[in-house]
Amino acid sequence: MDTEKEDDKILLERTANSFLCYKQYALDEFWRPRVLKWESLSEHQKRMLPWYESYLKDVRNGIETNSIFYLNLLEQSVEMWGLNTDPRSWPIPSAVDMSKTVSILNQIAREWSSICAEERDKFLPLVREFLEESFPSGRDTVKILIPGAGLCRLAVDMVQLGFNTEANEVSYHMLMVGQFILNSDLQEEGIALHPFVHSFSHHINRAQQLRQIHIPDLNISERVVGENLLSMVSGSFPDIYGPNINIKQSESYSNSAAIREIRAENRNSKDVVVTNFFMDTSSNILDYLETISHVLKDGGYWINFGPFMYHFEQDHQTELTADFDPCTGEVSNELNTPLKGIELSHEDVIQTATTYFPFKPIKQKAGIPSTYGTDVNDISMLGYQCSFWILQKVSIK
Ligand SMILES: C[S@@+](CC[C@H](N)C(=O)[O-])C[C@H]1O[C@@H](n2cnc3c(N)ncnc32)[C@H](O)[C@@H]1O
Repeated sequence: MDTEKEDDKILLERTANSFLCYKQYALDEFWRPRVLKWESLSEHQKRMLPWYESYLKDVRNGIETNSIFYLNLLEQSVEMWGLNTDPRSWPIPSAVDMSKTVSILNQIAREWSSICAEERDKFLPLVREFLEESFPSGRDTVKILIPGAGLCRLAVDMVQLGFNTEANEVSYHMLMVGQFILNSDLQEEGIALHPFVHSFSHHINRAQQLRQIHIPDLNISERVVGENLLSMVSGSFPDIYGPNINIKQSESYSNSAAIREIRAENRNSKDVVVTNFFMDTSSNILDYLETISHVLKDGGYWINFGPFMYHFEQDHQTELTADFDPCTGEVSNELNTPLKGIELSHEDVIQTATTYFPFKPIKQKAGIPSTYGTDVNDISMLGYQCSFWILQKVSIK
């Protein structure tokens, strides 16, 4: 096995192990401290909350229900992803792996439950209306790419409209959960989950925290299977779809002969790129602009929706970046570079894309309020002001 494949297997098995460890982790992190706190109260105070012990039992039951989801997922994933059948050989998950395993339950609610339908409808009608008008027929030959596709809900929505859709995702958590949801012939609303059970603030009542959701909100196999219109590609967006020039080698953009060939093949290959809550995941947003411009055909569209909450803004880590020769791969000018740093605003992105890249604006709107992974009953007011735009790549012959 080459080193790259070996590294991938380690990451996959670590992710799988984080699913396996979910129950113990969630009980230790969220349930047990509250049991201890409850036990520490004076008898006088305990009498004020006569329902509290049964509430703690419900929290525990919610965690147990979630852990059953992960156990079912693992039953399928071992074979699907070629993992070692003995989980005792899997690497220990990191704290970050465990927190992703918890937060992905909210992502499942966002993408695959009816309670977040209103949230998804902030964007879906905008993209649907434009695509239906622009491509009235022959949609199975229209190639849509969705980078940072998460659990593939938007990709399935695009397939339902008849488009040939490629979902790209870098996170093994997303890929494993997404594959399970898409490929397990799940019954509509067949799986129960308690995604909000780990969050103890911002509830108008206890029932909200303990609320059970049922996923998926539609019969996926009826909508997708047989059409052969959906594919998933694992890896970092610039790494796979970017140009072989202008981007520095980094952790998200590598430089083997094989990957340079894939990138060259992907040039001018897509009719539409849809970025949904994705642009702010970049450490250098210009790399994403280079990549979108490279992968789109002349005349193709870039449709964006999402906030500017840059994921690396508070990150103190650095990574090694370098120049390289696009023909030989020879590396030079290695530099230790901060992950944070190029955080452009809505206006900066549009100005840069239309001045230094071959894009012309078709539509744009800023300040569209949206939540993320919560329903309309959420009182936290933790929302985002999102930007929507459609740019067209013009021919530069
Ligand atoms: C905020 S989530 C949005 C997910 C989905 N688009 C949605 O709207 O629910 C951002 C996603 O982008 C993925 N991502 C981050 N950097 C990426 C990269 N360089 N290439 C591909 N995916 C990436 C993350 O793993 C995550 O699933």
